[in-house]
Amino acid sequence: MNIIVTGGAGFIGSNFIFHMLKKYPDYRIICLDCLTYAGNLSTLRPIMDNPNFRFVKESITNRTTVYKLFEEEHPDIIVNFAAESHVDRSIENPQVFLETNIIGTSVLMDACRKYGIKRYHQVSTDEVYGDLPLDRPDLFFTEDTPIHTSSPYSSSKASADLLVQAYNRTYGLPTTISRCSNNYGPYHFPEKLIPLMIANALADKPLPVYGEGLNVRDWLYVEDHCKAIDLIIHNGRVGEVYNVGGHNEMKNIDIVKIICKALGKPESLITYVADRKGHDMRYAIDPTKIHAELGWLPETKFEDGIQKTIQWYLDNKDWWETIISGEYQNYYEKMYNTEGLLK
Ligand code: NAD
Ligand code: TYD
Repeated sequence: MNIIVTGGAGFIGSNFIFHMLKKYPDYRIICLDCLTYAGNLSTLRPIMDNPNFRFVKESITNRTTVYKLFEEEHPDIIVNFAAESHVDRSIENPQVFLETNIIGTSVLMDACRKYGIKRYHQVSTDEVYGDLPLDRPDLFFTEDTPIHTSSPYSSSKASADLLVQAYNRTYGLPTTISRCSNNYGPYHFPEKLIPLMIANALADKPLPVYGEGLNVRDWLYVEDHCKAIDLIIHNGRVGEVYNVGGHNEMKNIDIVKIICKALGKPESLITYVADRKGHDMRYAIDPTKIHAELGWLPETKFEDGIQKTIQWYLDNKDWWETIISGEYQNYYEKMYNTEGLLK
């Protein structure tokens, strides 16, 4: 089996590649990633010499090179993780989200139509459903919940999902889509809530909590997401959408307090800052379909996953310290200091 994994130098894509190479030693994995600020080749260093692995530095929006790669590799499956993924950046600059997340998806699917494919899998997000109110804990996102987006990021992901469904219906492309809740775990880029709070707490820096910190996210350990995608690409029904999430809803402020406690840092580091524009209140997945059809259930409990994650950041300081000392510093300065969140 030849699998092209796009965005494999990012957080979830790299975890997925490690999972697949370990579980299927006879599969060939080709990682297509143009290494934006969020892509780290250092993450993939341990597998660069693996004869079943190839890294190609190129954008999914580049039709010529994407077609050339299909001609060279004759992939059976495409798993598309490549995306601009940070909501706050999408609020600052939506354009690149449209180019990568929408146009990139269409280029990949055009290649699938031209060269033939067994499966095109789109890694999507629960954010395409918009948000749920805090006072209705009985409500969850199902696969039938209408698309109702809030941010340029979620809108670009929803647009891509609609295109995937159109390519399935119009051209008969064998597609599947997974819509997962918030992931956490190793190699999570330190602009996102959990790694940002770990890095700041370790440096005794303020912990910037948006609004009142009451927004709820449904956190899933990244390995459980990778296992869900593995099941979907092998056993999922063509044309279907599968929601992925583990009924693990947490308020942001509670997560930040857990991190403070685990690191022995005072809660006085917590600093409430201006809220995100259009901030979604609550995400909560109903995973009944993937459980019933594919037998998937999350395996890592949050209490264990968060401790493993914190330990990973303690053991792998080189990985994230290199990142936060580079280009990322300009983003952090602009977002949290110059423009005022922490001023
Ligand atoms: P990430 O930002 O950590 O990684 C994205 C990767 O895509 C990077 O390696 C980057 O270099 C690459 N990339 C960006 N533009 C590209 C382009 N034009 N061509 C090729 N590569 C490109 O993202 P992540 O958190 O690993 O998310 C992966 C996917 O999962 C995304 O599609 C995201 O929407 C989805 N998702 C993420 C979460 C989450 O909690 N992180 C939850 C649900 C779904
Ligand atoms: P994030 O990790 O950006 O994921 P998403 O917006 O895709 O859910 O943010 C998770 C939650 O944490 C979200 O409600 C915004 C909040 N947040 C903060 O309070 N402070 C921060 O510095 C960041 C990055 C996020």
